[in-house]
This record gives sequence, structure tokens and C-alpha cells, in this order.
Amino acid sequence: MTPHKPSLNFNFAGQVALITGAAVGIGREIALAFAESGANLVLSDVNEELGHKTAEDAKKFGVEVVYSHCDVAHESQIKDLFALALNKFSKIDMACNNAGVEGTVVPTAQCSTENWQKIMDINLKGAWLCMKYEIETMLKQQQGGSIVNISSIAGLIGFPGLPAYVSSKHGLIGLTKTAALEYAAQGIRVNAICPGPIMTEMLKRLMSTSPGFEENLTNSVPAKRIGETREVADSVLFLCSAYSSYTTGQALAIDGGWVAQ
Ligand SMILES: NC(=O)c1ccc[n+]([C@@H]2O[C@H](COP(=O)([O-])OP(=O)(O)OC[C@H]3O[C@@H](n4cnc5c(N)ncnc54)[C@H](O)[C@@H]3O)[C@@H](O)[C@H]2O)c1
Repeated sequence: MTPHKPSLNFNFAGQVALITGAAVGIGREIALAFAESGANLVLSDVNEELGHKTAEDAKKFGVEVVYSHCDVAHESQIKDLFALALNKFSKIDMACNNAGVEGTVVPTAQCSTENWQKIMDINLKGAWLCMKYEIETMLKQQQGGSIVNISSIAGLIGFPGLPAYVSSKHGLIGLTKTAALEYAAQGIRVNAICPGPIMTEMLKRLMSTSPGFEENLTNSVPAKRIGETREVADSVLFLCSAYSSYTTGQALAIDGGWVAQ
């Protein structure tokens, strides 16, 4: 069964969305889905060539887009990104902290300090640093806002061979819930999306680590298929829209039923 075309008509005209890790995969799809729905965009990544390509493709929907290099592990680069964004648009209404890495596939006892630190710096510290600047900006605006963190089903259950990744994604859900409580009264909603296996470069890298991985993975999903990037993007737009105005602090699995098992 292939997925249905989305039935919700999102309209983000006049709003500004910031997305990290927008060059390829899920981040690129989120950027294009926002653009299609009329949002102006602040895009960033560490992959210059493909980051600029996403920006150019988004502009084809008639929205305004700025792109900047930003390694989310470095606060100075996040500061620069926000300076650029606010100089261009003077506001940020929505943000999706999507940038993430899977690191090396290795069991807990063999995980190196370098692998652990890199994954934590990007997936958890990077998302927290982005949230700091997003929340600060949204508080100043006094118009509320919506932040969506891309966690994973690895933020809800364990996965052998991915100790640092699983820990970073569990941590991101804790951070999401905490910030949601702290800023709910100011109208800033903070939610997490927990994708199951979604066909991207990251998943292809993971699938290449052992023969038969793709078939076993597909069979492990109750829906018996790998998810599409569009299915994650739609859920991000839902969590940024008025359709979810009373939803905050949630970790929403988009996983073909995986964590219901
Ligand atoms: N694909 C899946 O099956 C899956 C499942 C669950 C969660 N996720 C999560 O979704 C998010 C996107 O994953 P994807 O599958 O599209 O991965 P991907 O590897 O295909 O794309 C990740 C993007 O993040 C960028 N990036 C990497 N390090 C960065 C850094 N330090 N600063 C800024 N950008 C950086 C990359 O250049 C790339 O554009 C990640 O957080 C990932 O953990 C993916």
C-alpha cells in the first residue's frame, strides 16, 4: 500500500520557518513542504552544495528563502544563523530541529568516546542550542510559536548497536517535554516527531551495514513498508499548524506501527 496524498491544506503564508539539516532527506522534504504551504524559510546545513539546492528548489514555490552554513554543534554558527534570519525576516514563527547523525554502528562496550561525543554534540546539544535561540526569539515576539524536534523511535525504545544515537534521541524527548512545560503558558508549543525507518541517505548507510537488512527491516514494520520523507514532513507541518493548537510536549511516532508492537 502506498501512502495517501495529504488531505490537510496547510497555509503558512506570512510565517517564517527555520529548519536545520535541510540539505537532504527528511530536512529537505520538510523545507519543501513548508515552501509549498507558503512559509518563508531559514535553511541551514553543513552540506553547502545540497543545502543551496534545497533553497533554490524551495524558492520555486514563490516564497522567500535564506540559506546559511550552520554546524549545530557550534553555538557561534547558530548565533550567526539567527542573526541572518532576524536581519532578513525580523521573526521566527516555527522551527524544526532536524539535523542529526547516526554515527558508527557498534555495541555499547565498544562505542568510542569520540563516536559518543560527536553524536551527542549534534543530536542533543545541537538541538538544545537551537532551541535556546528559537525560544529566546519567540519570547521576545510575544506571539507564541511552534518547535518540532526530530527524535526517532530510537528515542522511545532501544536499538542494539546504536547506544549513543539511542541515548541522544531519548534525551531529546526529555528536553522536548521539559521545554514544553516551561513555555506552554507563553504559547510556545514544543513537540517531537519519532520517525521509524524512512528512506533517506542515513537509512541507506545503516542498511549497508549488513546483508538482508532492508528485507528484515521492512518485515519488522507492521505496515510492511519503509516510510517516505513526505510522511514525516506532513506531521511536522501538522505540529506547526493551528490543527494542533492544544498539543505540546508530545513525542509522535511516525513509524507504520513499530512502537505499538
Ligand atoms: N531516516 C530515518 O530512518 C530516520 C529515522 C528516525 C529519525 N531520523 C532522524 O531524522 C533526522 C534527519 O535524518 P535523515 O534520515 O534525513 O538523515 P540524512 O543523513 O539523510 O540527512 C541529515 C542532514 O543533516 C545534516 N547534518 C549532519 N550533521 C550536521 C550538523 N552537525 N549540523 C547541521 N546539519 C548536519 C546533513 O548534512 C544532512 O543534510 C535526523 O535527526 C535523524 O536522526 C531519521
